[in-house]
Amino acid sequence: MSAESLSGILEIKKYPDPVLKKISEPVTVFDDDLAKFVKDLFSSMRVHDGVGLAAPQVGVLKKIAVVEYEGKSYVLINPKVIDQKGIQEGEEGCLSFPGIYANVVRPQWVKIESKDLNGETVTYEVEGFTARAFLHEMDHLSGKLFIDYLSNLKRNAIKKKVSKHTGGHF
Ligand code: NI
Repeated sequence: MSAESLSGILEIKKYPDPVLKKISEPVTVFDDDLAKFVKDLFSSMRVHDGVGLAAPQVGVLKKIAVVEYEGKSYVLINPKVIDQKGIQEGEEGCLSFPGIYANVVRPQWVKIESKDLNGETVTYEVEGFTARAFLHEMDHLSGKLFIDYLSNLKRNAIKKKVSKHTGGHF
């Protein structure tokens, strides 16, 4: 892993950092470095009051993400959707878009196949907000961002707002 880690808190890449649009590689080695990285992802998510964080958001292009909601913690490694039902619409934010929120339509329920820290296959069946968080994080692993679900009009409004906030218009 190449992320700089100072006491386990990793720097979160903000939009429009190009790393956020890249496709991550599957994890093939399940070792202590992976466990340490996942621990750091959780720490970095918690320090920003996030409910999820994906590896590309800290500049690591590996299919790894974490989610924590209502006291339950989930590790997603090489996750994939194997079943889904229903639809839900709800507000999403992203640690790479501070202060930006938008409504996104997602499946209501999903069954996800993932690897755990030991490389064993695990399945999760989650619904509602937890399903939304899983899918948001899994999108990050494919370089997809929540603003990609919005109309051009809404997306451009967000891009404008973000560029103001990051001082992009010099
Ligand atoms: Ni996000």
